[in-house]
Amino acid sequence: MLVTLKEVMEVAEKRNCGIAAINTPTFESLVAAISAAEKNTTPIIIQHAQSHEYINQIETIGPAMITLAKHASIPICAHIDHGESINYLEKGLQLGFTSIMYDGSRLPYEENVQKTRKAVRLANEFGASVEGELGIMIGNEIGEHTQEVNEEDNYTDPQLAYKFVKETNIDALAASFGTVHGFYRHKPNLDYKRIKEIATLTNLPLVMHGGSGLSSKEYKLSIKNGVKKINYYTYGAKVGADATKNCINNNDAVLFSEISRYAQDAMEKDFQQIIDVFKSITE
Ligand code: 13P
Repeated sequence: MLVTLKEVMEVAEKRNCGIAAINTPTFESLVAAISAAEKNTTPIIIQHAQSHEYINQIETIGPAMITLAKHASIPICAHIDHGESINYLEKGLQLGFTSIMYDGSRLPYEENVQKTRKAVRLANEFGASVEGELGIMIGNEIGEHTQEVNEEDNYTDPQLAYKFVKETNIDALAASFGTVHGFYRHKPNLDYKRIKEIATLTNLPLVMHGGSGLSSKEYKLSIKNGVKKINYYTYGAKVGADATKNCINNNDAVLFSEISRYAQDAMEKDFQQIIDVFKSITE
């Protein structure tokens, strides 16, 4: 059943759990994510990042995401991740996406507020939810292997977050508190106190970007302190790549369709595992 981000976040609030937001730029990852959530009888967010247009365009993968979400046995939100322009977000909403993220985190504060407000007005016309971002995340979800340490200067300022939420009226806030996008080259040092302070001041569900590659303890402590949406991509996509290599090296399959199914099954197992970790804050 297709639902909004707001609805999924209400479930997370009630159950005191985190919800996996899996980037699904390929059909294999999409089917794997939905199947994993159905097997765990847990709501999920499937998302398409504008930076993944080079893998599949939203016009191609978007209708598949919406249709499969509508037919699923569990609540699913179809979300646009890191929207860079209002036009792109509008295209997604017209396709049936129920939630959008406008990422103005690298803009000056006032411009971020203005553009995010525009995204909120647009989403309201479609009955969709909005995620905004304040504070800077480094790295990317396009497989680059370079990674710096995210400096505290980039972290979200709790007081400014309060102001941002008041001024924009968003439904969820992506904040910077120690995670980075992509492969971790340095052990992250998550600022749980900051997560709690931002969550308490804004009274909104917080979104963890750069959510793959952490330990079960780090996930659970983040959820306990206020993170409700966990964006998950790089390490899940790597599971698919590793399975593909194994399948080819072991001569387990000769047809691409068989290889892709092998990768899909491996990703599904990985997604099931993380959905299970996010389900509760106790070890
Ligand atoms: P990772 O690719 O680091 O898991 O981050 C995903 C993400 O934050 C998408 O917005």
